[in-house]
Amino acid sequence: MNKTIKTTVAVLAAALFASVSGIAAAQVNSLRGVQADAVDQAPRDLQYQGKKPGLQKPIARTFKEQPPLIPHALANFDEITLEENQCMSCHSEEKYKEKKATKLGDSHMTAVPGGGAKKVMNMTRWQCNNCHVGQVDAKPLVDNTFKGNITAKP
Ligand code: HEC
Ligand code: HEC
Repeated sequence: MNKTIKTTVAVLAAALFASVSGIAAAQVNSLRGVQADAVDQAPRDLQYQGKKPGLQKPIARTFKEQPPLIPHALANFDEITLEENQCMSCHSEEKYKEKKATKLGDSHMTAVPGGGAKKVMNMTRWQCNNCHVGQVDAKPLVDNTFKGNITAKP
């Protein structure tokens, strides 16, 4: 490369870098604002709402594939360990009638090998609160315009 071309390339590169970093400086802003090192306020510790199971109506679903929201209180009803699952003490096939609870979704069941028509709970669903969540009276942390795909019944 001759010297003039080299210098031209260098000048062009410097100009490009200056304009790119200029744009970057003007537009990039962290989600936390400019004071990224400011101390965060811990959110208030809110309690799950609802009375004991059996006293409330189901919460309307807003989209077809939605895991229904939990309308009842959770304190004392939500122990899930390796051996025990309190949710199942009301929502299982065996217990739901007696407890007047909704039966576990059919999609949560799986066939037993060699068991014919018998189905048992699919253990990939054991941790119910991965998908089903209790309710808290709190403002959304960020605004959103979600509409859902189920039109409310008139
Ligand atoms: C003591 C019995 C009992 C226990 C324990 C219980 N539930 Fe319930 N659940 C009910 C009853 C009864 C309803 C019907 C609504 C109501 O009255 O609260 C219900 C409603 C629900 C619904 C709404 C279903 C729908 O179609 O909208 C979900 C989801 C749910 N429970 C999940 C859970 C999960 C997850 C747990 C464990 C963390 C749990 N429940 C523990 C009795 C129980
Ligand atoms: C991987 C996510 C997931 C997990 C884990 C899960 N569910 Fe669900 N559940 C769903 C979805 C999605 C639906 C709605 C569609 C359906 O029935 O499959 C549902 C539906 C339900 C319903 C309503 C059924 C109906 O006929 O309306 C009940 C009750 C329920 N689940 C209870 C439970 C309980 C109790 C557990 C734990 C033992 C559990 N679920 C674990 C996703 C999940």
